Amino acid sequence: MCGIVGYIGKRPAVPIIVNGIAKLDYRGYDSAGFAISENNRFVSFKTKGKLENLRKRIHGLSFSGTRGIAHTRWATHGKPSEKNAHPHFSHKKDIVVVHNGIIENHTALRKYLESKGHHFSSETDTETIPHLIGMFYQGNLENAVVAALKDLQGTYGLAIMAEKENKIVVARKGSPIIIGIIRTGEYIVASDVTAIGEYTKKIVYLSDGDIAVLTPKGYQIFNLEKKEVNRKIENITWSLDAIEKKGFAHFMLKEIYEQPETLANALRGKWDARRMMPKFGGLNIPEYDINNLQRVIILACGTSWHAGLVAEYYLEKFAGFQVEVEYASEFLCKMDDLGSRDLVIPISQSGETIDTLMALRKANKFGVYSLGIVNSVGSTIAREVTGGSYIHVGLEIGVASTKAFTGQIMALYLLAIYLGRVRGILKGAQADILFKKARALPGLVTEIFKNERTIISIARKFKRAANFIYLGRGLNYPTALEGALKLKEISYIHAEAFPAAEMKHGPIALVDRKMPVVFTVQKDDGYEKILSNIEEIRARKGIIIAVVEKGDSLVRKKADYIIEVPGTSMFLSPMLNIVPLQLLAYHIARLRGCEIDKPRNLAKSVTVE
Ligand code: G6P
Repeated sequence: MCGIVGYIGKRPAVPIIVNGIAKLDYRGYDSAGFAISENNRFVSFKTKGKLENLRKRIHGLSFSGTRGIAHTRWATHGKPSEKNAHPHFSHKKDIVVVHNGIIENHTALRKYLESKGHHFSSETDTETIPHLIGMFYQGNLENAVVAALKDLQGTYGLAIMAEKENKIVVARKGSPIIIGIIRTGEYIVASDVTAIGEYTKKIVYLSDGDIAVLTPKGYQIFNLEKKEVNRKIENITWSLDAIEKKGFAHFMLKEIYEQPETLANALRGKWDARRMMPKFGGLNIPEYDINNLQRVIILACGTSWHAGLVAEYYLEKFAGFQVEVEYASEFLCKMDDLGSRDLVIPISQSGETIDTLMALRKANKFGVYSLGIVNSVGSTIAREVTGGSYIHVGLEIGVASTKAFTGQIMALYLLAIYLGRVRGILKGAQADILFKKARALPGLVTEIFKNERTIISIARKFKRAANFIYLGRGLNYPTALEGALKLKEISYIHAEAFPAAEMKHGPIALVDRKMPVVFTVQKDDGYEKILSNIEEIRARKGIIIAVVEKGDSLVRKKADYIIEVPGTSMFLSPMLNIVPLQLLAYHIARLRGCEIDKPRNLAKSVTVE
């Protein structure tokens, strides 16, 4: 989704800010632009489409300005076009703004500003911001920004410059902004830490309501009441290796292949042999309160929501909770009344998904405990929960989430065992077995990679399919949902998932000899039933592709194509069964020539509601 980078210091700004937004391109965008101050005059370039177009536009030009802001836009208000791309200017063209988020009262503001004679050049909500700031501007940018922000409703991460002042002002509400300190007098600002890592490891996360002024003399942070606030300087710990493909054709493939390592990392040092339970550092819930809890409400979107559906089984079975897995956006529509017996678990790879963040804020108003299962360290959700656990799978660049999904499930598996032990539902020996079985998982995932050739040959057969159905039961229904999501995200083939038995109540009407149906089959209580479901598809001449446990001769006889995975416990099976489905989606998309790491219309981190 939209990305912001700004620079102020001694070096020419253009290479730094354009390089910075290039680092954010994995988030998804449809146009890009920048503005710099060149001898106290603004110079700006914007192009539709890939960053390459912007690079071509400025090729051969030289810029010396040492202050600039840049942006990648993911269209919300107004189509992707050059005129809608950021930056946007004030009426007198003396203020320039890049913006992430949505201004909800933009229609009223625009009407008001037009009545004052302001002329707008785009269809965006953003353009109201520079116009408003311009209206308040009397030679001091931060004063005008504070005045304007008081009139804005909605969310924003902003970087702003005035033509005649050597400063950048940034502000945030609901959309992240961070300051990177290169050295005193040289700063980089961004919406995502990835843009900054190459220049500095020292960063300051702004909180909602913060405004910062950066000049070549230093920086200052204050709030809307103009009171100075202190935000601590933190160190980025991840290495820049994460943004290299390391010989893989795509980030997605690299991230699929990282799963044995990320799963092993999730388990390392996590076992408390004395108490026979997983160790958790940052949950911040006293054990007596854990015993009092009754209901868990999981809040998430997309792939993270699928991880939540798997966790529902863990939290019910291991820890005796009543569990509700909510789409974060739908939770916002409900009239829930949360109380002291409720625990809220937001799950988010990015830690910035606005729907999940808003749902968490709604829950937090009830004073409940909230445990974040987050990947991105220091992200907004991680900072607004009462406690939680990072999944530590490293930066995920591919828009289609892979290693974060298995990492989230593993973190939730351990969390459920921990809560079950504290609540006296699991015995030490049971927890020990569950943990030991998980330890075998990284090795089992590695075995699946040996089947990649089989998966590629299936991908070749079905690369032109128009539709796919994915079916699974119990814990593997979420696996089916996630498999179908992977396929549609990156190959643009229409794919739907259903609980295997539910298929009879409608979707079966779609089955004919052209319909590939992917089953994930686990040898659990529902095994016999899923065999019947396979028969039902066969009887309608559907093509059966089955992910099965090694040596499953019964399904082998019934299916057209088989992908074998090693046997594991029913509880761990989603983390294994999803791997061939990730690879199947990947290879189909590759054979169709799709842009795998940056699929059309999608964004890595969705920061608009
Ligand atoms: C976007 C991404 C998905 C992701 C979802 C939730 O739609 O494209 O891959 O699952 O957001 O993101 P989160 O960062 O909250 O897990």
